[in-house]
Amino acid sequence: MSIHIATIDDAPFMFEWRKDTDPEAGTDYTQEQHLGWMAQMLLDEKRVMLIGSMHDRPVGVMTLRDDNNALDVTIAMVSGERGKGLGTRMLVLASGTMQEYDLSAEIWRKNMASVKLFRHAGFEPDKARQSNGVTYWSRPAKK
Ligand SMILES: CC(C)(COP(=O)(O)OP(=O)(O)OC[C@H]1O[C@@H](n2cnc3c(N)ncnc32)[C@H](O)[C@@H]1OP(=O)(O)O)[C@@H](O)C(=O)NCCC(=O)NCCS
Repeated sequence: MSIHIATIDDAPFMFEWRKDTDPEAGTDYTQEQHLGWMAQMLLDEKRVMLIGSMHDRPVGVMTLRDDNNALDVTIAMVSGERGKGLGTRMLVLASGTMQEYDLSAEIWRKNMASVKLFRHAGFEPDKARQSNGVTYWSRPAKK
C-alpha cells in the first residue's frame, strides 16, 4: 500500500471513485461537475484527500478535515476492493503518520466493517455521544 496526497492529476480516478462510492454524485454526474468538485476539495484549506494504491492502482480515498478540535477522518474503498484488508492497511498506515494529531470519525453503528477498521487503527468510541445511529470515535495524539 502506498499513499499520496490527491492532486488534479487524480481527477480521472476520483471521477470513477466518486460515482462508485458517493450517492451524492448521482448517476448523471458529469466530468464538468466533477472538476468543479475536485477544485473545491483541493482548494479547501481545511481538507486533504489521500489516495491509497496497491501496485500503483488506486483502491481507496481518505479525507482529513480540520474541525478545530481534531482531524475528522473518512475513508471509502473502491467497491470491488472491499473486504480484502486494504481499508485497514490504508487507515493504519495513514493514521500512523499522524501521531501528533487528534483524529476523529463519525461511523454508522451498523457499519461493522467500518467499526472494525477504526478499532484496528486505534480509535475508540465515545460511548456517551451517539445520535441517530451515528457513533463518534476518536484517536488521541501521542503525548
Ligand atoms: C468501511 C470500509 C472503508 C472498510 O474497508 P475494507 O477494505 O472493506 O475493510 P477491511 O477488508 O480492511 O476489513 C476491516 C474489517 O471489517 C471486516 N469486514 C469487512 N467487510 C465487512 C462486512 N461487509 N461486514 C462485516 N465486517 C466486514 C473485516 O473482516 C475486517 O475485520 P477483521 O480484521 O476483524 O477480520 C469499506 O467497506 C468502505 O469503503 N465502505 C463504504 C464507505 C464507508 O462506509 N466508510 C466508513 C465511514 S467513514
